Formats: sequence, structure tokens, C-alpha cells
Amino acid sequence: MKELLKRFELEGDIVSVEPYGNGHINKTFLVKTLQKSYIFQFVNASVFPDVAGLMNNIALVTKHLQSRGVPTLHVVPTKDGQTYVNVGEDFFRGYDFIENSVCYEKLPNLDMVRKAAEGFGQFHSGLSDIDVSKIVDVIPDFHNTRKRYEAFCSIVLANPVGRLSECKEEVDFLVSRQKDYSMLVEALDKGEIRASVTHNDPKINNVAFDKKTGEVACVLDLDTVMGGTFLYDFGDGLRSLFTGDNEDSTDLEKLVVDLDIYEAYLDGYFSMMKDSINDKEIELLPYSILVIAEELSLRFLGDFLNGDAYFHVDYPTHNLVRARTQIALAKDILKHMDELQALTKRIVSKYGR
Ligand SMILES: Nc1ncnc2c1ncn2[C@@H]1O[C@H](COP(=O)(O)OP(=O)(O)O)[C@@H](O)[C@H]1O
Ligand SMILES: [Mg+2]
Repeated sequence: MKELLKRFELEGDIVSVEPYGNGHINKTFLVKTLQKSYIFQFVNASVFPDVAGLMNNIALVTKHLQSRGVPTLHVVPTKDGQTYVNVGEDFFRGYDFIENSVCYEKLPNLDMVRKAAEGFGQFHSGLSDIDVSKIVDVIPDFHNTRKRYEAFCSIVLANPVGRLSECKEEVDFLVSRQKDYSMLVEALDKGEIRASVTHNDPKINNVAFDKKTGEVACVLDLDTVMGGTFLYDFGDGLRSLFTGDNEDSTDLEKLVVDLDIYEAYLDGYFSMMKDSINDKEIELLPYSILVIAEELSLRFLGDFLNGDAYFHVDYPTHNLVRARTQIALAKDILKHMDELQALTKRIVSKYGR
């Protein structure tokens, strides 16, 4: 690795290199020189075939945030002015280390939920005037729920491995929610909501907090930034907070909408986004959680019906269990929709909207 590191513009001589963090996708290392610390990562290029496009997205987004004064990652350039180097199956790239930062797997309290949401709100509002047409789709149609539904229907009709009889009820539910799958995509097509940059992995362990102050430092893990609507992140951020550790659980009683978490997250998010969000987008905030829970349901159940071709499974019904989890959450969101809408109105009115 020292040979690889020599190809980057580092300040000072390297004194240590060690594995770092709890990431699940990249191989991450902390690299220290006498002057400075860096994070270097091997990223699996088979997950992201368009490496140049991906790194270009990150460069555009981080530069834009820097120009707006929003704290963000800084890419370490190579000595020949590139943003990464190729290493066999992987590519290798670095960032300045965010000093005194810490990431949490679970947020300990509502105050931290609010702060994580502020982080994403700051990220989205800082990017609200970027030229989205320059950002490439590293995973095309990632949140295109209309296409996801079409793909799901084809698998249901083909029933390739004969599992349809095991999940009739789940399939019926997802078919009955068909109109939801056009909600965000159509609003984007019609221009009722604006095209904007989406993070696409808005989990809490992708937010760095300042160890000393407890305030949010910045949003990390920008590999999946793409065009879309920030509502995808708002919905997915809350969906993952509601699901918590129960993604693979069969105890569906645990999957409930937590109105306190919703209030804390929305309040933090909106405090940053109040001037960068239109009325239609506000209206769709609670629906975005529903759409993302249903999108994941379509993906998990579709994969179950397709013989587990995409997601790694530990046992034969793993994808069915995951789909049931997301469906249970979707049903609970529907049950609480009036309350979520009322709460949204109350919070946004605090900010004069
Ligand atoms: N620039 C950075 N400064 C400090 N810590 C970082 C930085 N980038 C990543 N990390 C740490 O490394 C972990 C994994 O990095 P991440 O980019 O999220 O990779 P993965 O895709 O594997 O989740 C993060 O959760 C965080 O703890
Ligand atoms: Mg991560």
C-alpha cells in the first residue's frame, strides 16, 4: 500500500497505516503522516463500473459544498492530478481525515437524531443550486419505483423458481399500492418537485459527529450520490431509523413508526432546508418514507421470487423475511399517515412555512 500511497499528494512522510471504521462496503484505512491524517479506501469497482463518473460526481459535489461553506470531504489528488488510482478489481482513493470525528451505528438519543438530520439538511440545501445534469447515474434508475414495479411484475408473472405460492399475500399488498410507485417519479417528471442531488445511503453511520462538541461534522460516504429528489434521502433516512436493527427480524410488532423520531428528524432537517423546499415537496415528506419502504419491499420480494439472484441470503426465506419487514413498516406508515401529515404541518409552520 505504501507504493500506492506514493502516487498521492500527501503532506509529510507516512508514519502509520491501519484499518479503520465500521464500513460495510469499502476497505477503509487511516493513514498518518507527521503532519496530517487521511482516510484511504479500496472501493470495489464491480459494484460501480463507472469509476471515473463516480469520482467525478464526488469531486463536483464536494467542491460545490466547499464553495457554499458547507463542511464536507476533501478528495486527496494524485500527483498527476487525478482523483483515484486503479488497483486490479478495485480503485483506491483518499480523503482528508475529519479530525476528532466519530460515527455511530445507532443514534443514542433524539437530540442526535435531530443533529444527523441537520447534517443531511445542510448537505441538500448546500447542493440545491448545483447543476444536476453534470452528475451521472452510477446506478441507473436506482429509485425509479415505476421501473422497480414493472420489474417486480415480470418476475411475479414468470414465477421462475415456483415461490409465488409462499408469498401471495405480500404480492397482493404490493400490487394494491401501485399508485404509490408513481408518486415521486411523476412529480419529478412534471417538475412539481425539483431534480436535486441525492446521497442514496443516508444511514446514520454515514454522518460524522464532532467528538468534543457532539455537533454534526459532515456527511460521509458519497459513492452513491446521484441526481433525483432529496425526498429519497429523507424517506430512506427515516425508514432506516424506524427499522433500526429489525431489518431481518420476524417480530413484526417491533416495526412501528416512532412519531418522536419523525418530529426530531423533520425539525433538524427542516431547520436547514426551510428556504430550499417547495410546497409540493413539503406535502410529500411523509409519503417519501412510505415509497422507500415499498421500494425495498419490491426489491426484496422480487429477489425472493427470482431465487435470491441479487441480495446475499443466509437462509432460503431471508429475502421474504426482509420483504415482510418493509411491508409491515409500510402498513404502519399508512396507519399513521394522518398523524405524520399533521405533525409535518406543525413543524414546518414553526419555520414560517
Ligand atoms: N474522511 C473521513 N474522516 C474520518 N472518518 C472517515 C472518513 N471517511 C470515512 N470515515 C470512517 O470510515 C467508515 C467507513 O467509511 P465509508 O466511506 O462510510 O465506507 P463504507 O461504504 O464501507 O460504509 C465511516 O463510517 C467512518 O467511520
Ligand atoms: Mg458508510
